[in-house]
Amino acid sequence: MGYVDFHTHILPEIDDGSDSVEKSYMMLKKMADEDVDVVFATPHCLLSREDEKSFLQRRAVSFNKLKTYLANVQSDFKVPEIRLGAEIRVTQEMKMFEYAEALSLEGTNMIMYELPYDNYRMSYGENIYNLSLKAKKVPVLAHAERYIDIYSENDYGDLFSIPNIICQISTDFMQSKKSAKFAATLIDAGIPLVFGSDCHNMTTRPPQMKSLLIKKKKFCSKYKIMEYTMEELFYFHKQLI
Ligand SMILES: [Fe+2]
Repeated sequence: MGYVDFHTHILPEIDDGSDSVEKSYMMLKKMADEDVDVVFATPHCLLSREDEKSFLQRRAVSFNKLKTYLANVQSDFKVPEIRLGAEIRVTQEMKMFEYAEALSLEGTNMIMYELPYDNYRMSYGENIYNLSLKAKKVPVLAHAERYIDIYSENDYGDLFSIPNIICQISTDFMQSKKSAKFAATLIDAGIPLVFGSDCHNMTTRPPQMKSLLIKKKKFCSKYKIMEYTMEELFYFHKQLI
């Protein structure tokens, strides 16, 4: 069973991720090597700077460019299935989505948000809750471990109390003690989580999945997590899509 990468910047020339179709192709090849068979393309979506329609149009142009390239290239690997999505930046003031369906992770009932890297504000949690509820979507918190150094337990508690929230954890979470401990705490608490590489390129932030998750044995024994719990997680991911 292959992996699902829930968070990537593989679409070309749309954000700070892939800067060309050729780069996107190389990233897809690396994903295939990493046993990823379904990938969500989740470009940054900054609704304080751009309206939904404009973002969706730019995303369509970028995806079409990639599809055309893929149709004309002889691949020596199985290209992962690409599904569209967005990484929606939460701000203090947000209005109801006009195109919630198109902004969601394609083929699922999930919608992904990222928080600004600064002090937590109650309005962030409130907005995630209200927007998701009105859109009838399950909220996914992108790279939930990223805020460990700036959020208090109460701040995280506020986010985790959002009904049905799913945490997306970066696939390199086992590389740092703090984020490994954080992920273990979530698993222990039964908070649903999904993995995403948040890949942007082939060098500093490459696609990584199997090569990192393969170290789960050590992680499980350190944090006393049953190995089958991790297997169940991967199974759960396939059910979600
Ligand atoms: Fe991202």
